[in-house]
Amino acid sequence: MNHQPATMRRFTDKVTIATGGSSGIGRAIAIRFAHEGSNVVIADVDLEGAEKVAQEIRGLGRQVLAVKTDVINKEDVNQMVNTAIEKFNKVDILVNGAGIVDWALLAEIEEKDWDSIFNVNTKGVFLCTQSVAKQMTKQKGGKIINIASVFGKFGVKLFSHYNASKAAVISFTQTVALELARHNINVNAICPGDTMTPMMQAEVTTLSKRFGISEKEYLDGCVAKVPLGRLGTPEDIAGLAAFLASDDAAWITGQSFNICGGFYSG
Ligand SMILES: NC(=O)c1ccc[n+]([C@@H]2O[C@H](COP(=O)([O-])OP(=O)(O)OC[C@H]3O[C@@H](n4cnc5c(N)ncnc54)[C@H](O)[C@@H]3O)[C@@H](O)[C@H]2O)c1
Repeated sequence: MNHQPATMRRFTDKVTIATGGSSGIGRAIAIRFAHEGSNVVIADVDLEGAEKVAQEIRGLGRQVLAVKTDVINKEDVNQMVNTAIEKFNKVDILVNGAGIVDWALLAEIEEKDWDSIFNVNTKGVFLCTQSVAKQMTKQKGGKIINIASVFGKFGVKLFSHYNASKAAVISFTQTVALELARHNINVNAICPGDTMTPMMQAEVTTLSKRFGISEKEYLDGCVAKVPLGRLGTPEDIAGLAAFLASDDAAWITGQSFNICGGFYSG
């Protein structure tokens, strides 16, 4: 993946926690924020992946921690946040990027899969936000960015559990923004459309098989629905995350922003 060097340095000496920072969108955000001057904590179940991204970020001259964290586990989350505070004395930005997906029709969804999706995509956002907000409240400020999905705004066959988990994140963002506004903490959600990452590749592989078409045909079908004529890149999403974490977004809170090449505008 190519990472455009950021031309701005909006996060000099800031501290960012990026959950899901080992891969895809979370990784691109961690690297983009480091380019812009932030020190970074990568919190991910995939420690090996987190270490690799940490190595890249060290190469940019930033301080970085890779912390094995399962966002569905409250102890893990609190320990990760405490480790971040011990090392950096503060947390300025939280990006909740950890997420999983599954594809099944209503009749096929197993209870355990419903629970996994909601645990990671929704409860994980709650636990990380609650833990970090405690610190940001003491600091009298911060930015929280939740990676939801444009799929959280409409129906898509085979995605009822995933889409419901993302709709919940959009709703959670709206209410938490109201509660944290008086502490000068901005809370917003990003709703990406199809973005080429390992998660998207897994969708292409699984659903092309399910529909009996080639991966290329499946991908072409996805691209055909995008007015701007291509899938997103993780760096596209990182650019919006960086704007929302910057001072230019100081008067924005409780919003959810579609970034999907024009695929959906509601
Ligand atoms: N790729 C897309 O098209 C797309 C579109 C809309 C929204 N999103 C959302 O963007 C976010 C990032 O997705 P991606 O495409 O980069 O996926 P990805 O699979 O490349 O990355 C997800 C990361 O989350 C981590 N993770 C999974 N479960 C975890 C847990 N329990 N605790 C901590 N970390 C965990 C994984 O190890 C991985 O590093 C997800 O929330 C996803 O739902 C992705």
